[in-house]
Amino acid sequence: QQKINVGLCGFGTVGSGVVQILENHKEEIVHQVGCPIEVKRILVNDMNKKREGNIPSSLLTDQVDELVQDPEIDVIVEVMGGIEDTYKVLEKAIQNKKHIVTANKDMMAVYGSPLLQLANENQCDVRYEASVAGGIPIIRSLTDGLASDRINKIMGIVNGTTNYILTKMIEEDRTFEDVLKEAQDLGYAEADPSSDVDGLDAARKVSLLSTLAFSMPVELDDVDVRGIRGISFDDLSYAEQLGYTVKLLGIAARNEGKIEMSVQPTLVPHSHPLASIKDEYNAVYVYGDAVGETMFYGPGAGQLPTATAVVSDLMDVVKNIRLGVTGKSSVNPQFDKSLKSSNE
Ligand code: NAP
Ligand code: HSE
Repeated sequence: QQKINVGLCGFGTVGSGVVQILENHKEEIVHQVGCPIEVKRILVNDMNKKREGNIPSSLLTDQVDELVQDPEIDVIVEVMGGIEDTYKVLEKAIQNKKHIVTANKDMMAVYGSPLLQLANENQCDVRYEASVAGGIPIIRSLTDGLASDRINKIMGIVNGTTNYILTKMIEEDRTFEDVLKEAQDLGYAEADPSSDVDGLDAARKVSLLSTLAFSMPVELDDVDVRGIRGISFDDLSYAEQLGYTVKLLGIAARNEGKIEMSVQPTLVPHSHPLASIKDEYNAVYVYGDAVGETMFYGPGAGQLPTATAVVSDLMDVVKNIRLGVTGKSSVNPQFDKSLKSSNE
């Protein structure tokens, strides 16, 4: 194929980052995948919104069929968020033989299983690296690098917004509301930031990581969730005086054949490396039978780190298209509830 055409759903924080990386790293990308990757159409919500950068307005549309039914579009990159409607868009895209790259943990945590099943039936690839921990390649590490190990536990900071809030509140003596507003302005927070501050975003990520790490489909409802709403400067300050830093930790561990998952504010001793993870950065410990303890660290939210993961996934899909092996790597048996016993 001379070039690969992309339909980009969403042109906000992450979508505009995807366009930037495709443009700024064009030479390296073509060198690695063997052909140009071009954004042919961009789906947005509001056609009248003022856009930064010099994106031709002719690329923009609010008609989803102009992407998912365009026979010249090979890959749909979904960075618009949403669950039910977005799943229907991706379902239709796959039925039209489009490969999918998504950053959407909300949708993947709920519909990952049927989406991957449908993709498998249609010989399409689905990639979702950016859905957990932004720029950290944690999904690849679990499904590739650590695939031969038996993972017993995962623990870490998987939400950038709450880590940013906790860091700035204690270091700069600022209010929760003030720092949350800044995290929103910086593009870290979800469209509805209550999913960040109440722990649901982290819970979705923990359930996705658990599905992959423990080769067992788990349910979002099985995660015991508490967020950071209501935590005051005084709480953080007393903890510091006692030698602890408060972090919102996601933990998933095997226990007598079951997987126990939780998200909660936790007192982390100053001596523990997780206590020094600041701002929007994430860090995930993975404990395996054979490998022992590994730690993955990096920016967990934000435009370019997240877009890096999206474009790397896209490059992977393009390489598969050019090799003629699409669909073969989209089967994630961990997501297939018919193959494994559930976490009951
Ligand atoms: P955002 O800045 O709010 O951008 C969303 C974009 O999608 C906007 O361009 C919006 O159009 C468009 N859009 C939303 N709903 C739409 C609909 N129903 N139909 C057509 N277009 C629609 O969001 P974001 O921060 O880029 O996040 C996008 C996705 O990436 C989410 O799933 C999020 O969870 C995930 N993610 C984000 C980050 C991060 O750091 N921001 C990190 C990892 C993953 P308008 O421009 O017209 O409003
Ligand atoms: N709102 C999310 C966070 C974006 O703050 O971690 C990255 O998934």
